[in-house]
Amino acid sequence: MMDDQDRIRRIARQHVRTDELLGVSFMPVAGRQEDAVPTPVSQPVMVSSPPVPSPRPLPRSSSSELSAAAKRPSGPAPSGPLSRQQKLDILAAMNADEVVSCTKCDLCRTRIQTVFGEGDPDTPLLFVGEGPGQTEDEQGRPFVGRAGELLNKMIVAMGLGREQVYIANVVKCRPPNNRPPTPVEVDACSGYLLRQIATLRPKVIVTLGGPATKLLLSTSQGITTIRGTWHQFNGLQPEGPIIPVMPTFHPAYLLRAYTEDNRRKVWSDLQKVMQKIKGESETK
Ligand code: URA
Ligand code: SF4
Repeated sequence: MMDDQDRIRRIARQHVRTDELLGVSFMPVAGRQEDAVPTPVSQPVMVSSPPVPSPRPLPRSSSSELSAAAKRPSGPAPSGPLSRQQKLDILAAMNADEVVSCTKCDLCRTRIQTVFGEGDPDTPLLFVGEGPGQTEDEQGRPFVGRAGELLNKMIVAMGLGREQVYIANVVKCRPPNNRPPTPVEVDACSGYLLRQIATLRPKVIVTLGGPATKLLLSTSQGITTIRGTWHQFNGLQPEGPIIPVMPTFHPAYLLRAYTEDNRRKVWSDLQKVMQKIKGESETK
């Protein structure tokens, strides 16, 4: 079985190759708009490679202790390193016991279903979007519409598979007509995201677009100014780590403003993320 070091090295090599050969590889260069329409993802992508250790059941006591911690609405971050299974248990309990039936804001009135988030609980890389769109609302999974297809391409261009990262949103219910969530809605919902982050403890967070960036960096700076440079998420302090954050454009924005300049900017942001993940794995 490949260990983490091998995996990261392979990813890094693939990343360099992709970069050299294709430049802005996840999006073809200007003038070929039709290529911007990504190939549909036909399968749910929570599958296979690299092999994921099969979940080992936890002793009852620790599992229920942890779900108790997860149930605390805005309680402290779980402390200490968690096993993969513990993370899965905490996240599943938060979703099943709180999020699916949540009525903390008015978005509950118009949603079809909540969209909790998904991915590898041991991932070094968390993407945070804004909120579900129509397809996500219908399917109950994050980033499965057009923006999601582009996000998948971005992830692949980084040498990763979608199943190797974690994807979540600021709000878990669809804002009607895809409007941005209001400050009241963000405020009502953000505790879930913060607890997801506290559980996952990723090495790096990529915020996609304005709302995620504003929330996690407590900034009012616009995404155009703030993207492309490293910032810090301090929300787990003092018990938890400071997590580096790379803000970049939301893929839905990229689809609307599909210029070579914007694509290069996003690709450059993602390259910085890969460097950071590689650096983290080497210093271990
Ligand atoms: N846009 C988002 O911000 N999140 C999704 O899950 C889908 C589209
Ligand atoms: Fe609850 Fe968040 Fe949905 Fe509002 S958006 S109802 S806070 S889960």
